[in-house]
Amino acid sequence: MNLQNLTDTAKALVADGKGLLAMDESNPTCNKRFAKLGIPQTVDARHAYREMIVTTPGLGECISGAILYDETIRQQKKDGTPFLKVLTDAGIIPGIKVDAGARDLAAHPGEKITEGLDGLRDRLAEYFQMGARFAKWRAVIAIGDDIPSRSCIEANAHALARYAALCQEAGLVPVVEPEVLMDGDHTLEQCRAATEEVLRTVFIQLNSQRVMLEGMILKPNMVLPGLICPTQASVDEVANITVKSLWRTVPAAVPGIAFLSGGQSAELASARLNTMNLRFKSKLPWALAFSFARAIQQPALEIWQGKEANVPAAQQALLHRARCNRAARRGEYTAAMERT
Ligand code: G3H
Repeated sequence: MNLQNLTDTAKALVADGKGLLAMDESNPTCNKRFAKLGIPQTVDARHAYREMIVTTPGLGECISGAILYDETIRQQKKDGTPFLKVLTDAGIIPGIKVDAGARDLAAHPGEKITEGLDGLRDRLAEYFQMGARFAKWRAVIAIGDDIPSRSCIEANAHALARYAALCQEAGLVPVVEPEVLMDGDHTLEQCRAATEEVLRTVFIQLNSQRVMLEGMILKPNMVLPGLICPTQASVDEVANITVKSLWRTVPAAVPGIAFLSGGQSAELASARLNTMNLRFKSKLPWALAFSFARAIQQPALEIWQGKEANVPAAQQALLHRARCNRAARRGEYTAAMERT
């Protein structure tokens, strides 16, 4: 393991004004999003969609790294140029989702455990050899009656830490993603408590597995009330409580925190990230960045609709969201940007 390389990559992923584009939807997830818009759920459609994304002109101005899926990392443009080369030529570091998805956790109704540790060392070596320089593993934690349980949090934190240590051994920066889900009617306070417990446990496990904190990125949820909670929170409340929870739980050695969007609207995700940076950036030890999938891609996907003729407009929408989030990283995002 070369700690300097890992540290340099981690810092580059959260460089000023930049963040990650998560385009690593598994085939079933990608197909589900296509189905909602009447787009065919085929390998050709997924290929065309991902080609639209990676060839967006100017994307590298705002996107430091792109998280790919196993199918995508092996694909090429119609002219034969590998997607990996298209990205690196644009100054975007290629990354790869390496978990095998979340399955029911035995004896824990309503809870999940992320799988994928078996054979991971060999898969990481292959991805590094292909050109990936970072990886992602997502754990999902639900809030509900009597959940999350301690055992679910511990099992997922342990798997995240085992994954992270294997990544660093392979020369890949681990993006560590413990996602407390927005689904449900839980309150802002319940999400805060769950998020803090999860993050504390994750860092205990990362230390126990000897993960070098300087060479990783944390990808957490923002602290939010459940989607159907009758009391929703203002942008200011979300920014304050999210930063407070991270301040309490994330060691200063971590170079960057790149939020997932988790089902927030694209505009709200930008506004909340912006307020965190506007209010707290100069006081925080780590960069506050983004690693959004839906909050960057959704408007572009809705415009694209699976049609070649819509590619330029879809790319413009994608770049617009990337620019909004670049501004949010700097505390310079305004609602007026949405009208330009
Ligand atoms: O693992 C989830 C993605 O990387 C982030 O997706 O921004 O749509 O929540 P999201």
